[in-house]
Amino acid sequence: MKGRDFLTLGDFSAEELWAIMKEALRLEQLGGSVSEILKGKFLVLIFQKPSTRTRISFEAAIKQLGGECVSLGWSEMQLGRGETIADTARTLDRYADGIVARVFSHGHLVEMAEYAAIPVVNALSDLYHPCQALSDFLTIYKKLGKLEGVKLAWIGDGDNVCHSLLLGCSKLGVDMSVASPPGFEPKGEVLQAAQRESRKSGCKIEVVREPEAAVRGADIIYTDTFISMGLDEERQRRLQAFLPKYQVTLKLLQLANPDCLFMHCLPAHRGEEVVDEVLDGPHSIVWFQAENRMHLQRGLLSLLI
Ligand code: CP
Ligand code: NVA
Repeated sequence: MKGRDFLTLGDFSAEELWAIMKEALRLEQLGGSVSEILKGKFLVLIFQKPSTRTRISFEAAIKQLGGECVSLGWSEMQLGRGETIADTARTLDRYADGIVARVFSHGHLVEMAEYAAIPVVNALSDLYHPCQALSDFLTIYKKLGKLEGVKLAWIGDGDNVCHSLLLGCSKLGVDMSVASPPGFEPKGEVLQAAQRESRKSGCKIEVVREPEAAVRGADIIYTDTFISMGLDEERQRRLQAFLPKYQVTLKLLQLANPDCLFMHCLPAHRGEEVVDEVLDGPHSIVWFQAENRMHLQRGLLSLLI
């Protein structure tokens, strides 16, 4: 996998996704003796939008493996004054061993990857959030000891995180049921790609209207903000479309499997997509989930760089 870009889970086979998760687990088991694995390697992180978890877990990951990094906002770079993505990529290629970038348009990442020979990792785009989704599969595997046959219910916006979970579930044999209001379903092309893959892996991928239908038999209930970064102008329209029906409440949780787990990529908007009683309650594994971002990214960096 050395040298590959990591832009979407769609580019990786189930075996490759497992290899990244297994590497993360291996490094975790090694404990303190991982500090030389990426010695002398240098990572550039670029953020066009805010980040807490992704930025800091990537910084922690590379440093724990003996490498170094710099994190920069888009507008701190000449990108903010109009230098092209292609020219930026060609330059960074001469300095660094990898680029991790969070962008508005997924096309920016594709362009960056085209002009940089070093690996480009998607730290979230409008379309996908593959590091989040793959670390979520690691989280589920750590908790349930398996992925195949697990059912994940997605409640809310068919957004970037939902897209990456759809692609990952379809490859890894996880059933996924998405409940979204009209007009906020996952993109048709992503859904179709996931459904094609699911026929090979033998799992079920569906989009339904009712949250109650999605959570039936679910092992995992997952939600995300109704208002992704960059969509603040749609706030009122979105809250009207999603609330109260698509809020994850204790009542909704009670319709899933009795030992179901609640997941959220975070940041959470308490009282919008989820209530405090769920986020802070006994079914919630959101902090364990956040921790695994760092473990998964250690495995990812170790294999790509
Ligand atoms: N889940 C996630 O990507 O969080 P940040 O926006 O804090 O990086
Ligand atoms: N869907 C959210 C995820 C944040 C980690 C967003 O794009 O803002």
